[in-house]
Amino acid sequence: MGTSDKSKQFDSKRWGESVKKLWGGRFSKQPEDWVDEFGASIPFDQQLASQDIKGSLAHAKMLFQCGIIEKSSYENIKNGLIDLQRQEHAGELHYSAEYEDIHLNLEKLLTDKIGADGGKIHTARSRNDQVATDFHLFVKEETIQIIEHVEELQKSLLTLAEKHIQTILPGYTHLQRAQPVSLAHHLLAYFWMLERDKERLTDSLKRTDIMPLGAGALAGTTFPIDRMMTMEELGFSKKYLNSLDAVSDRDFAIECCSIASILMMHLSRFCEELILWSSEEFAFIEISDSFTTGSSMMPQKKNPDMAELVRGKTGRVYGSLVSLITLMKGLPLAYNKDMQEDKEPVFDTVKTVKGCLSIMTGMVNELKVNEERMQEAVNKDFSNATELADYLAKKGVPFREAHELVGQIVLHCIHNGCFLLDVSLDEYKQWCSLIENDLFKVLSPKHAVERRNSEGGTGFQAVRNQLEAAQSLLAISSI
Ligand code: ARG
Repeated sequence: MGTSDKSKQFDSKRWGESVKKLWGGRFSKQPEDWVDEFGASIPFDQQLASQDIKGSLAHAKMLFQCGIIEKSSYENIKNGLIDLQRQEHAGELHYSAEYEDIHLNLEKLLTDKIGADGGKIHTARSRNDQVATDFHLFVKEETIQIIEHVEELQKSLLTLAEKHIQTILPGYTHLQRAQPVSLAHHLLAYFWMLERDKERLTDSLKRTDIMPLGAGALAGTTFPIDRMMTMEELGFSKKYLNSLDAVSDRDFAIECCSIASILMMHLSRFCEELILWSSEEFAFIEISDSFTTGSSMMPQKKNPDMAELVRGKTGRVYGSLVSLITLMKGLPLAYNKDMQEDKEPVFDTVKTVKGCLSIMTGMVNELKVNEERMQEAVNKDFSNATELADYLAKKGVPFREAHELVGQIVLHCIHNGCFLLDVSLDEYKQWCSLIENDLFKVLSPKHAVERRNSEGGTGFQAVRNQLEAAQSLLAISSI
């Protein structure tokens, strides 16, 4: 029996009819299917297919240019990968759990397509720097998309705010009516929250836009690779300078989920207000039919489902963050298989966040504001009590005394079922002789809002200035 026959016999004994693993050389027994399935990430990491092919194209080009593989092999690999890319876009690729993950599946598909040259793609590379590179590319692309989505929502808020500088509604603290505010001012508060989210996302790119490729499994490689070449080819701004760090860092993924969590918290707070404001009790707004649903039993109902869902989905984004930071906390350097669990939370997070942002933008674009109802609310409350206290303070009454006095007047009104504007001048004079007829103008909610023109305040002019600042910020950032 010749050598080749022997190895053939050996092969079939070890693997029987089943698929030979790409890493199978050292093994004499192969895992059963159910174990393969447990270990496989292909059901979800196929989402990284296009990044993986992109990474391989850059790697192969560099291998050729550095003289590590011959031109013909490179051409073969390149054409094979381009074809795989086309098939991937067309949804024509079929993956298998036997090949564990997207990296091995694509290598197998490439080898099936172009023959032995396919096996050269993994020269000077490990799946550890490969997966990290794919993941960096993915998170970078998604972060840019999320920034664009945030900006869309900001634009919608600005458009709505522009129409409602002079729309007045009660401002709340403790969910108790506090002082009247301009609706534009209220909406712009969310604009600034989103602006901070955008800043965080943009800043995180510094740490996402960095290339691990070339780190090998953990220690670098003996091949004369050129990392600058792959870095530029893949559009990264920087590369990791420590191979151990390169393959074991998942900070960028955690940061993505952490920023997403804060962003979702903002959306959730906004939703909470939309839900409250669209209730019969408030009736400040009406959410468009396109974003609400009916009840299967109660025909009169119009439920703010989409706003509730965004509020609800905030929980799963927090969950992803917690699962990621928990996943990483006990891992020794460098790569550990635990890290395969890093993908689903990130995939789920970016999909959820983009979905929620689109829903919010649609909801804001179609929001109907009930201005009369808001005005009615400020007319029938005590949110002008501070005006009265300030009025007295300006007449020389120490503010603390003025506060006490106004508190007593409010209590008197509550007992008599009226509001501050219903009290006559004679009655006021009994409380304090300094009060004159000019008080009634001061007590009007519009007047109260109009005059708060301190920088960042709710006064109409201050809000106009704020809106302008927001608009120019958006114009600059979208250039
Ligand atoms: N599927 C793996 C993951 O997502 C790829 C890296 C595997 N590396 C290894 N040495 N087993 O983490």
